Amino acid sequence: MSIATEQPLPDIASYKSLENDELSVRIERVREAMGPELLILGHHYQQDEVIEHCDLRGDSYQLSQMAAENTDCKHIVFCGVHFMAETADILANRPEVFDKRGYRVSVTLPDMAAGCSMADMAGIEQVENCWADLGEVIDTDDITPVTYINSAASLKAFVGKHNGIVCTSSNAPAVLEWAFKRTSRVLFFPDQHLGRNTSLKMGITNDQMPVWDPYQLEMGGNTDAAIESSKVILWKGHCSVHQMFQAEHVEMFREQHPGINILVHPECPQEVNDIADISGSTGKIIEVIKHAEAGSSWAIGTELHLVNRLKKENAHLEIHFLSPVVCMCATMYRIDLAHLCWSLENLVYGTQVNAIHVDDEVSKWSLVALERMLKVK
Ligand code: 13P
Ligand code: SF4
Repeated sequence: MSIATEQPLPDIASYKSLENDELSVRIERVREAMGPELLILGHHYQQDEVIEHCDLRGDSYQLSQMAAENTDCKHIVFCGVHFMAETADILANRPEVFDKRGYRVSVTLPDMAAGCSMADMAGIEQVENCWADLGEVIDTDDITPVTYINSAASLKAFVGKHNGIVCTSSNAPAVLEWAFKRTSRVLFFPDQHLGRNTSLKMGITNDQMPVWDPYQLEMGGNTDAAIESSKVILWKGHCSVHQMFQAEHVEMFREQHPGINILVHPECPQEVNDIADISGSTGKIIEVIKHAEAGSSWAIGTELHLVNRLKKENAHLEIHFLSPVVCMCATMYRIDLAHLCWSLENLVYGTQVNAIHVDDEVSKWSLVALERMLKVK
């Protein structure tokens, strides 16, 4: 197999100057050379050029399952964002599989700047301070901490240690049910909208859901009474992409396209979720569109690249993007062909760049919470 032989490999800047066609050919050469040793995972929000080179694609829950289930590969290259690659590292290298394989699976994030602004809205110190403050007013043994998978591994470890669990947008209702079988309260971070939208469907009301602002010194900006009467304490975090969808966009589409179906992600604000026809993870959005009646019309409230792909792949449907403003995930978009090619060629030469390797202690406790998540669907 002839792959570029230049040694040492040039830096990312040189790859940036190459045309996409050349990058695509070189990426495929590496895939062919590495065969089943290499697993490229891609989230649905990735750009089409990148998704075409992925072995498997999925929503956050599916991607976690894929990383956990593949027992043949030696290297995972994750086309997604940082917390996803961390999760893949934890699951792919869990002791039970590691002992059988006898080697660590390497995990690479092609661009380390591919983070998630929502995940960054909750830091481990802030969460620990919140927990300590809550303990002054209510019994923390009676709170289940639930972290959305869109969070740093340290937060997953925190919930693992405190009898909590990780959720994704596809199993959040089942996770909250799991939690309420164990305790009478939940602390949900970092996405207030997913927490609120899911809880409302379970009959929990907004006055039972105080919002914890980590930048407020006293009780996250709440009275003791509000915390005492809470069912779900919501972290003040959000997705800057899904926050852009507004109820007025739904109304506008309904007015201009009578009969249109509104399909949104649960990271959208309550006002949008309340009036949408269907709400679900990216995996569910794809499933709904797959089974949609020919000729039906849809306005979809989620990241732009996924909606554009659905439009392209479903010419028999009328698909609109549910916002007049461009809502794309700038960090997901950082993974481009240049970064993918650069990281793959380095991998094949044994000079891994952008390795994601979660600290052992953090991995151990995160795994506890992630394994609970994988059992709840
Ligand atoms: P899902 O793909 O799990 O729906 O998550 C969407 C998202 O925002 C990922 O960051
Ligand atoms: Fe994070 Fe939102 Fe981007 Fe998902 S879409 S990775 S939640 S910023």
